[in-house]
Amino acid sequence: MTERRGVFITFEGGDGSGKSTQMRLLAERLRREGREVIETVEPGGTRIGAQIRRILLDSANQDLRATPELLLYFASRAQNVEELILPALERGAIVLSDRFTDSSMAYQGYARGLGEEAVLALDRVSCHGLVPNLTVLIDIDPETSLARARERQLSRSETRMDEQAAEFHREVREAYRVMAAREPKRFHVIDGRADVETVAGAVWDAVRPLVSQSHV
Ligand code: TYD
Repeated sequence: MTERRGVFITFEGGDGSGKSTQMRLLAERLRREGREVIETVEPGGTRIGAQIRRILLDSANQDLRATPELLLYFASRAQNVEELILPALERGAIVLSDRFTDSSMAYQGYARGLGEEAVLALDRVSCHGLVPNLTVLIDIDPETSLARARERQLSRSETRMDEQAAEFHREVREAYRVMAAREPKRFHVIDGRADVETVAGAVWDAVRPLVSQSHV
């Protein structure tokens, strides 16, 4: 396996948790410090990934079944890992990803009930052993975060997920908390109810030790 000199940081949380804003703020801060930062998003991140994303988030695709849905998330991820993430890490860049395998574990593995094993098996095939060095989990109750997500006025074509039952989102949150408790070294859980600056400060406190160590 090629040497990975960079740092891989993922952002996780429910829909509307504020993780995308926080990732952007972290990227800006790291760039101000002179670091090479690559930002990516799942599903998406690459040209192929963007095409897969359209299938996944199209509200016309209500008939998409749970198993093909899981496979599509991993198809997008496998392309992202090979095309973008691994080459950037090999160059020594800091890669920030808005969601990664933990999303599939929380949403498909737990909340949709496909099970841990299926997700772990696909991760082995798709990710070449890549595990985030740090995962920032923005934890917030679904009532608050879904209200925020609605305020963003997402385009009509990207609403499939936001129409999920409230119960589904509660299960996603619970899954993330269980996963974080199981891997306390990798996960940093941050209370997403605080204001943007406070959350950004907490994200920076979590990230700083990791990026200063790896400074090239
Ligand atoms: P997006 O509009 O990017 O929402 P968010 O800003 O909340 O990330 O939509 C991504 C949706 O896809 C979101 O509802 C979570 C879901 N998802 C999965 O169910 N499994 C996955 O593996 C990934 C990456 C995302």
